[in-house]
Amino acid sequence: MSKTAKIVLDDNEHVLPVVTGSENENAIDISKLRGSTGYITIDPGYKNTGATKSAITFLDGEKGILRYRGYPIEQLAENASFMEVAYLLIYGELPNTIELQLFERSIKRHTLVHEDMKRFFEAYPAKAHPMGVLSSMVSSLATFYPESQNPDRNSEAINLTIHRLIAKLPTLAAWSYKNSMRHPFMYPNNKLDYCQNFLNMMFSMPTEDYDIDPVIVKALNKLLILHADHEQNCSTSTVRIVGSSQANLYSSISAGICALWGPLHGGANQKVIEMLLKIHIDGGNVDKWVEKAKDKNDPFRLMGFGHRVYKNFDPRAKIIKKSCDEVLEKLGVNDPLLEIAKKLEKVALEDEYFKERNLYPNVDFYSGIIYKALRIPTEMFTVMFAIGRLPGWIAQWKEMTENNEPIGRPRQIYTGYNSRDYVDVSKRK
Ligand code: CMC
Repeated sequence: MSKTAKIVLDDNEHVLPVVTGSENENAIDISKLRGSTGYITIDPGYKNTGATKSAITFLDGEKGILRYRGYPIEQLAENASFMEVAYLLIYGELPNTIELQLFERSIKRHTLVHEDMKRFFEAYPAKAHPMGVLSSMVSSLATFYPESQNPDRNSEAINLTIHRLIAKLPTLAAWSYKNSMRHPFMYPNNKLDYCQNFLNMMFSMPTEDYDIDPVIVKALNKLLILHADHEQNCSTSTVRIVGSSQANLYSSISAGICALWGPLHGGANQKVIEMLLKIHIDGGNVDKWVEKAKDKNDPFRLMGFGHRVYKNFDPRAKIIKKSCDEVLEKLGVNDPLLEIAKKLEKVALEDEYFKERNLYPNVDFYSGIIYKALRIPTEMFTVMFAIGRLPGWIAQWKEMTENNEPIGRPRQIYTGYNSRDYVDVSKRK
């Protein structure tokens, strides 16, 4: 017999259906609650609200489990390429050899961006944050490919947009960095794989080739996989809600990039390095900064600590921490910030405040140290997160579109003035 929930409102009992997922997660279906009772539910920050049913990513925050389409993140990070993971998320299955070849070939065919778009970059100030540039450029893609704006678009047209996005994002990302240096843009090189090509566009110069280090390529591939999807987080929910109005995929992804930029979400990786640097310059007294983070009168928070859903450990942080040690050793980098990060983690994990609140290092805590070792500039860290998250955003947008989900439109409890009469300006106090 299927489960139900009962709710008593104004002495009347209402029976609500319970929805159970494939991992036995339960949800009370309140979609008809207002119609039958006049009540809505309220849940600021959607802490207990399931916005959709999704078959893409499973996450158990208590047990520290993360799986894409059923595959454990640990296995994918160790064995897969980012292109395989992108295909898996978007099309539901790991590709066979032929499917992977065709997918990679198609991505390579679309890596160039329209020459007219190059001129847009010139209008940005050199100090423009690359996340701002990236979101505008992605939004602009919709104007270059107007067919993407047709809500009745067929799956072939959607596929073309998906491939264009995956292909062009690294080009736009690398160019936003080159532009900030006022260096010439480097064109994509389709002989290279996805990660190699990005690194080459970032670091090669017309005057000097860039030696692509396989250690760096492997580390980047792993980081992108770890960021590839995370079910209904802030930026993904943004992509879905923007897409639910039938806005085109470019605009939806551009909105996701903006949501990711915030320091409580993807922007945390930049803030972690800035925080570690501040602690380092301040003399490295980790205890002092832990006390500041606990002080309710001090706005300071330990960046890279805490998570809305992980209440035990973040499995991505565990993989990244190990990878961080390996990468730094292989590249021969001795970063004092890594020592501060390790001390900070130890002190915080033993502290009652952090223990009581289940606050652990999250994916952003160590990723910045790896990016730094790979010579990625700090302002580009969140851009790296965006490149990694793109397949997840696309998969979620595609799922929502294919399931014909209704437009996202939450309700509210109004707490403002009751009705009052207009007063002429001459009579107002
Ligand atoms: N440092 C100090 N105290 C914290 C921290 C922190 N980083 N995070 C949460 N707390 C405290 C918070 O003050 C609150 O205490 P109290 O119960 O006494 O009021 C309690 O822990 C619960 O915090 P919350 O803000 O209600 O939790 P949330 O689920 O709304 O927020 C979070 C989650 C990630 C926004 C938050 O932990 C945070 O601000 N962390 C720092 C920013 C960060 O690292 N963000 C990256 C998240 S992982 C990458 C991604 O996928 O976005």
